[in-house]
Amino acid sequence: MCGIVGYIGDEQATPILLEGLKKLEYRGYDSAGIAVLRDGNIEIKKSKGRISVLEEAIKKDDLIGSVGIGHTRWATHGEPSDNNSHPHLSQSGIIAVVHNGIIENYQPLKKLLVQEGYKFKSETDTEVIANLMEYYYKGDIVETVEKVLDRIEGSYALGVLSKDCPDMIIAAKKDAPLIVGLGKGENFIASDVPAILKHTRDVYFLDDKEIAIIKKDSVKIIDIFGREIKKSVYKVKWDVEAAEKGGYEHFMLKEIHEQPKAIKDTFRGRIVDGCDIVLDDLKITKEQLANIDKIFIVACGTAYHAGIVGKYTIEKFARIPVEVDIASEFRYRNPIINERTLTIVISQSGETADTIAALKEAKSHASRVIAITNVVGSTVSREADDVIYTWAGPEIAVASTKAYTTQLVAIYLIALDLALKKGTITREYAAEICEGLKALPEKIQNFLDNKDEIQKFASEHYNTRDVFYLGRGLDYAVAMEGSLKLKEISYIHSEAYAAGELKHGTLALIEDGTLTIAIATQENLFEKMLSNIREVTTRGGYVLAFVMEGNTQLEGVVGKVIYLPETLEEIAPIMAVVPLQLLAYYMAVDKGCDVDKPRNLAKSVTVE
Ligand code: F6R
Repeated sequence: MCGIVGYIGDEQATPILLEGLKKLEYRGYDSAGIAVLRDGNIEIKKSKGRISVLEEAIKKDDLIGSVGIGHTRWATHGEPSDNNSHPHLSQSGIIAVVHNGIIENYQPLKKLLVQEGYKFKSETDTEVIANLMEYYYKGDIVETVEKVLDRIEGSYALGVLSKDCPDMIIAAKKDAPLIVGLGKGENFIASDVPAILKHTRDVYFLDDKEIAIIKKDSVKIIDIFGREIKKSVYKVKWDVEAAEKGGYEHFMLKEIHEQPKAIKDTFRGRIVDGCDIVLDDLKITKEQLANIDKIFIVACGTAYHAGIVGKYTIEKFARIPVEVDIASEFRYRNPIINERTLTIVISQSGETADTIAALKEAKSHASRVIAITNVVGSTVSREADDVIYTWAGPEIAVASTKAYTTQLVAIYLIALDLALKKGTITREYAAEICEGLKALPEKIQNFLDNKDEIQKFASEHYNTRDVFYLGRGLDYAVAMEGSLKLKEISYIHSEAYAAGELKHGTLALIEDGTLTIAIATQENLFEKMLSNIREVTTRGGYVLAFVMEGNTQLEGVVGKVIYLPETLEEIAPIMAVVPLQLLAYYMAVDKGCDVDKPRNLAKSVTVE
């Protein structure tokens, strides 16, 4: 999980590469490096630490040249260090490589190269690729790349420079994202769009085992047998603003505030005539649906939490049994799945290794796969049978916010579509839910405009050691997401519980002042929640409760009540998660944490 960028043109490559790398830092940030072709040689600068460290290390007359590749790393093979940083140079300095992914057979290949007299400077699998290229190189770099791709197993997005071919960059990918940006008299490669958006909106999304030969005036795509592939140009619609911070202190806060728009964008054009759901890429017919007897929802992390809302909602609306699974479990547990099973995978990035593997597992058992993803052209979007895009725009902060709420919108649309096709809900009921969805952006905006209460609460409680989140039904799913948000960015220990489960063990941890957050939006479960809240307060726990406006039953019972704009309880998770995101954000800021780049984490987990 790393970020790659490359430039070829008439400008100085280094500033363009540094700028591109900064836009990719969310993909990993434990070391960075740049290689530039200069006077027939490859010059490299790399260092442990963030891009800013590299930037400072580059002197005025370093890395002069207009062809280069850059890399920001998230360590897989070998600890973060200067030596393990990319780019990696082949032994005699003729080829430089940047790589995102994992080469599974690098050890036998390394052994072979060592026997051939190669000496290695790093512990990385990437240096093996560079030396393997040199080993195979007989004067034709494209042929060399083809040979090497044939030998390596695993995942890769590669950028390659050869000192013998100063007029080209070679790029290739398998199971890791890579795009080619098309400019005028200049071209780019990148792991993701924000890195090149300032320069071009025209891109090719490379597919697995494609090789791009990039010159300043041309881009040729071939397969590993050298056959040319015609690809269509995708025009990126995101504006530059959308990929940058837009005046907020952190991307996370900006992205929390983008939710009203992102939610609206995600249902825009998909609800017609009050309740008809138009999902262009969901082509399952009534007849096909009649053959489905089970649904799996598979995802990781926050996306998994969206899946739990999906279970409650699809079962309620469409009356089809739904099992939600963590992708890393699903892929290895031989799930009972066949052509009568529908699988829904959820992934913001569309590149999460476990989710992709789960998708492939489902397909190998003849299950139809629907993908919910935020990234056009991502692996998940290409591998699935049907794709529902969340139109959240690029999410830069590691902690997911707008991707989650838009995933929920997508889940509701799918649930309504399935239920209407099956006839398990009336059109009137569907119209009511759709009205509720349409009203949400304004309600969330109102809440965001009055967020001081949350900020104040955070400033009074950010020193807390443990936090417990409680909810029942849909509120339990929200509790899980709220808890993950808090722990990942503030490093405060937190756990989420189905409120009724607390007394089966965890209640032992509640002591004087333990902060407990209770989410109680579901009317039919409210009395039960009240009992569970009392179990906490009577043991000295301090409870912050979130309830719908108009419900004053918790006044005087808990430490503090925060009221949510009244929302249909079926779709309450979309509303209820917003204050939990804000609470996590402000507590993390008050603690002085690096909110957008929490320690040990990266945005897109493209390794197992
Ligand atoms: C947490 C978070 C992660 C991701 C997870 C899956 O805030 O963002 O838990 O949700 O890594 O990522 P995607 O959705 O890209 O598959």
